[in-house]
Amino acid sequence: MDIKGINIQKILDEMSLDEKLAMLVGKGGWNICGNEEIPSVKMSDGPHGIRMVSDLTDGGQFAAPATCFPTASALACSWDKQLAFEIGAALADEATALGVNVVLAPGVNIKRSPLCGRNFEYYSEDPLLSGEMGGAFIRGVQSQDVGACLKHFACNSQESYRMISDSIVDERALREIYLKPFEIAIKANPAMVMCAYNKVNSTYCSENSYLLTDILRDEWGYKGVTVSDWSATHNLVKAVRAGLDLTMPSDRDLFAYDLEREIADGSLSMETINKSVRRLIELTDNVYLEPSGSIDYEAHDNLAYKAAVSSAVLLKNDGILPITPDKSIALIGKYATNPVYQGGGSSQVNPPRVASALDAFTEIERGVEVISGYGAESEILNDELRSAAVVASASADVCLVFLACADEAEGYDRNGLRLPSDQDKLMEALISAGRKVVAVLNTGGAIEMPWALRVNAILQVGLAGQQSALAAVDILTGRANPQGRLSETYPQRYRDCILSSYYGKDPVADYRESIFVGYRYFDKVGMQVLFPFGYGLSYSDIRYTKMTVKRLGEYDFTVSVSLKNVSPRGAFEVVQLYVSDINGFVPRPLRELKGFCKVYVDADSTVTVDIPLSYESFSFYDAEREKWSVFAGTYEISVGSSSRDLPLRQSIVLEEGNAILPNSRPPERYYKVEGSFTLEEFESLIGRKVNFYKPPVKGEFTTYSTSKEISSTFAGKQIVKMLKKRATVDGKLDSRQLEQMLNMPLDALMFFGGDAFTPVMLRAIVDLANGKTIKGISGLLNRKSDIKKIKRKEYDKQLKARKN
Ligand code: BGC
Repeated sequence: MDIKGINIQKILDEMSLDEKLAMLVGKGGWNICGNEEIPSVKMSDGPHGIRMVSDLTDGGQFAAPATCFPTASALACSWDKQLAFEIGAALADEATALGVNVVLAPGVNIKRSPLCGRNFEYYSEDPLLSGEMGGAFIRGVQSQDVGACLKHFACNSQESYRMISDSIVDERALREIYLKPFEIAIKANPAMVMCAYNKVNSTYCSENSYLLTDILRDEWGYKGVTVSDWSATHNLVKAVRAGLDLTMPSDRDLFAYDLEREIADGSLSMETINKSVRRLIELTDNVYLEPSGSIDYEAHDNLAYKAAVSSAVLLKNDGILPITPDKSIALIGKYATNPVYQGGGSSQVNPPRVASALDAFTEIERGVEVISGYGAESEILNDELRSAAVVASASADVCLVFLACADEAEGYDRNGLRLPSDQDKLMEALISAGRKVVAVLNTGGAIEMPWALRVNAILQVGLAGQQSALAAVDILTGRANPQGRLSETYPQRYRDCILSSYYGKDPVADYRESIFVGYRYFDKVGMQVLFPFGYGLSYSDIRYTKMTVKRLGEYDFTVSVSLKNVSPRGAFEVVQLYVSDINGFVPRPLRELKGFCKVYVDADSTVTVDIPLSYESFSFYDAEREKWSVFAGTYEISVGSSSRDLPLRQSIVLEEGNAILPNSRPPERYYKVEGSFTLEEFESLIGRKVNFYKPPVKGEFTTYSTSKEISSTFAGKQIVKMLKKRATVDGKLDSRQLEQMLNMPLDALMFFGGDAFTPVMLRAIVDLANGKTIKGISGLLNRKSDIKKIKRKEYDKQLKARKN
């Protein structure tokens, strides 16, 4: 269907109410409802490759073959916006070939805790880096007339209790840390913005008018479509009122009648509905393309390789790397032959080819010895594998040990920052036996490395997509020069993280550390870390030689930085610029990233790069005055190759700033962050008590309640038993997945549960749990009935009662 140039107003005028409402509630798992005039737009995940599945519950392994690029966590380590653009454009080409019109990516949520199970889908702990990479990705996707969908708006930084969690966050942290990447990326004008599952300050994101309307539309001027995360809508009327245009997946009539009724009552205006429908038609006009072309797998394979090389971070090297041709190599660990290159969940791609490290060595005709080393079912067998690996590697000049968590997935947080113990034990055994050991990491984020000081080299390849092993081998053997820089801090131990004592413990997640996330905390307290934010090595030697700061306006500057490569090998460098407010009028992190630039420096030569600074580089969110403010005074600009290696520094003075002093000071601790804030201090910061989670009791259950919650009643227990039985038939769900299901609101269960869970049955379950036995049983018996009709009848009854 050719759509370009349609008359949107005419289509809107001619649509019936039913057609309009149908557009707001999605069609099946992946489409927006079209009609005779407008085609149905198709959406698909995801962030590092197209996951085009036909059924909602199909895993990525059933998706149409598509190139698997590095995950966002890896790509961010390239600090290369042009690369993010190119990957976005390549994804869009694949999308069009597969008949997909909107790519459900990028995710720009902040890595608040290294334990967040979905960190591999996100870019960074830093808002600027996240927002810039996300924005570049969106521009790339949309350069090919395909839509991008910025997600998950907002404060979706944990997977534990992910569908019911409540992120309690103070306004300043909300603006400076959690919303900032969205604010930056929105400038790329994504076709869609997806709201998150969680609540923010006790209101579900899908019903949060502060986020969806006041900030997104009124402040940021966003004109595109807002969509729910899949089954994040619990009350469509509230959601539409709050500014949500589209609920996904199809609501199977659970909500549709509520909207009809509110419109008929006059309590929901047709203007509101029309606005959303108009945006959806505009979206269709902008992004709909008939499937066309075919995937150029080879070109995209090359791009995936380039991206993997750009993203790998060399964390340590005592000189063992690059491995020279005369050295014998042992490849140790199952991931050497069975690579870990992406995480699990909705972003999982089904690539046409994946090479292992063994394949890569074979390709370059380099003989290696393969040794297993870990990964057996039992501890005894692992002990045996380990001893055998120590013996077998005796004659190798270099042991390359491939390490990975291998269970990083959407829906679950990690249990700790350690690798599976058999891998750490193997590292210890090899090191103790005097082997020359190089750790090759394929993780989506920070891990603890108790052996870091004693190992010869560490290469973090990340979850770098289908070409990750080829890139790793080329870097290890010196065919490529490492160029990645960490996009997050690697703490020495998890307990060093400011939130380690309270993160993920309660569905009500207090963001007690406020703005002190990642390096903003470690730097403030001067804590030693394993590897700092922005850090990474190469095989070259680049020096920072000169910085000049040129003033262009009141707050506008150009910072020029000269770099000299004093080695015989050309290399990329990531120039990082941090700003420190040293006035002390308001508590701030010690320094914050305010600009960066990736540049190639030829062997034995010098380059100069320019990095701009503006009002935004100096401002903080002034929660008291509800605006961004800058204090007049002195700021230090520091430049270098990581947040902890900043050889060039210069102070500047902002004279004309609107120097204002806050009326009321934030809590004392805010000034001299030592450990985490106490709960009382946090409460004084947000100006209210944190109401931690209290499970609802009989009589209080709603369709928002979880299966776990209703299991506290007799009827609920029976229902949960039934659910568990269904869910585990044929080993459908493992114990982690089951736990996740039990923590899903019942209405979400209906979306994911397939046809077995009808809307009427859902209500019956709630009635039974609330002790309304007769109503509940009748609901169960009539579970196949039409929920719209039932609701209509109930409403007529209510009206009659009111009239009498
Ligand atoms: C994820 C989204 C994804 C959606 C559709 C949800 O579970 O949170 O990121 O786009 O599913 O697959």
